[in-house]
Amino acid sequence: MAVQISPSILAADFARLADEAAAVPNADWLHVDVMDYHFVPNLTLGLPVVEALHKATATPLDCHLMIADPDRWAPQYAEAGAGSVTIHAEAAKAPIRTLREIRSLGARAGLALNPATAVDPYEDLLGEVDMLLLMTVEPGFGGQKFLDVVLPKVRRARELIGRHGGRVWLQVDGGVDAGTIERCAEAGADVFVAGSAVYGASDPVAAIDELRAAASRAVS
Ligand code: DX5
Ligand code: ZN
Repeated sequence: MAVQISPSILAADFARLADEAAAVPNADWLHVDVMDYHFVPNLTLGLPVVEALHKATATPLDCHLMIADPDRWAPQYAEAGAGSVTIHAEAAKAPIRTLREIRSLGARAGLALNPATAVDPYEDLLGEVDMLLLMTVEPGFGGQKFLDVVLPKVRRARELIGRHGGRVWLQVDGGVDAGTIERCAEAGADVFVAGSAVYGASDPVAAIDELRAAASRAVS
């Protein structure tokens, strides 16, 4: 699959979200980090903002739910217009039911794993998901240092996905920049979240092009 770049608006100006979405016309997705101060020690935004942002941009929204009760809330993000809704395996009590609900509402269903969560126990769920998100920092904050310790898991996930038909997208999130994206791509990731590396750059469009080129080079 072609490389996809999903800029995280966590690093954007929250007072000007529509403008910040318009500033990255070459993005494949807009990554929206929903944090509830329970699953992670930070608080960001929720459904009303996702609904408003969906109306303000044509770029599909890639909602990453870092919340304690995704079974209750995830379907509502699909209803709010998200193109992709990702729940955390560590938080979901009924992941199969919730992933199926997300899909039945027309969104892509994603499953996220924290850096210390092994991927093998989730192999049987691969048929239920459209994307696997492997966190490459501890979730909660942008601008953290990339955790190389996760790379063997990215390789392992790519292997398991291959065994199940290769249909599932493999996303990495956290500390992805020009210096780390090639390692992620070589390990098998194909969807790249980048917050500070895009919105912290003086030219976000050029930053996306550079990230895409670096990842594509690494796999060609
Ligand atoms: C962290 C979030 C990330 C974050 C990435 O919990 O899930 O999406 O915005 O930010 P950077 O790219 O700055 O590490
Ligand atoms: Zn995220």
